[in-house]
Amino acid sequence: MTEGVQLAGVIGDPIGHSKSPALHGHWLKRYGINGHYIPMHVTRDDFADVLKTLPKMGFRGVNVTVPHKEIALQLADTITDRAALIGAANTLTFTSTGKVQADNTDGIGFLANIKQKYPEWRASNGSALVLGAGGAARAIVSALLADGAPEVILVNRTRSRSENLRDQLGARIKVMDWTKIPQVLPDIATVVNTTSLGMVGQQPLNIDLAGLNKETLVNDIVYAPLKTELLLQAEQAGAHIVDGLGMLLHQAAPGFERWFGQRPEVDDELRKAVLSA
Ligand code: ATR
Repeated sequence: MTEGVQLAGVIGDPIGHSKSPALHGHWLKRYGINGHYIPMHVTRDDFADVLKTLPKMGFRGVNVTVPHKEIALQLADTITDRAALIGAANTLTFTSTGKVQADNTDGIGFLANIKQKYPEWRASNGSALVLGAGGAARAIVSALLADGAPEVILVNRTRSRSENLRDQLGARIKVMDWTKIPQVLPDIATVVNTTSLGMVGQQPLNIDLAGLNKETLVNDIVYAPLKTELLLQAEQAGAHIVDGLGMLLHQAAPGFERWFGQRPEVDDELRKAVLSA
């Protein structure tokens, strides 16, 4: 019987690598909530059926991950402006009548992570350099613009993807080639790597940081390893660094609060629990 037990989870394909069950599981235990957060392996073909069924089974909501983030948005009954702008959902909440509300919390997770370590930091401090133009970049660029970035310079292996992003997200975005990075670096306030380069098992991120300003904040969304080569080099150059684990933790908080009625804390204890999972 699930009556009285609050249920939520994460849906993806694959799902085994997801850190979300450890993360939400830690919060459930910490706050003594009678609930479960369940990883669910669901294929594309079954996703729509599962989404219709979960509210009937007592689920309050779910996170969605690859490859369901775009289709989740299309199937939802209501969507937030930021999810619409990003074109993907990561957090679904079910109403008592089974309607699906879709949100995307990646952008606010990104901002909250940086602001937790550097409360004075604002995207409006100056130009941002964003490496990559995939799904993560879309959420991060939207968040940087919303936080007042005067200019976002986009660099991506496949130039047409950054051009698409510029066409959709607006005039403050400038598309640039990878080779030009050293020329603009001295005038950049915020650097973000949104690619998978530098992650365990992936190719290294080759970037020349020689011109990096000491005032610049460098953030990598890769969190395995926690201190990537990019962050190590930036630290050696005297810049401010923020690792990517906090974005994962902060993007999870709004869903947890909506489903389980408790605003959760993102702190060192949580970081340790998720890293050791
Ligand atoms: P996500 O949703 O995590 O952002 P994605 O949409 O697949 O994933 O985007 C991955 C990003 O990493 C893209 O910017 C991709 O560049 P391309 O658009 O050229 O594919 C970048 N990326 C992945 N592997 C790369 C590599 N070996 N070299 C350069 N960029 C790479």
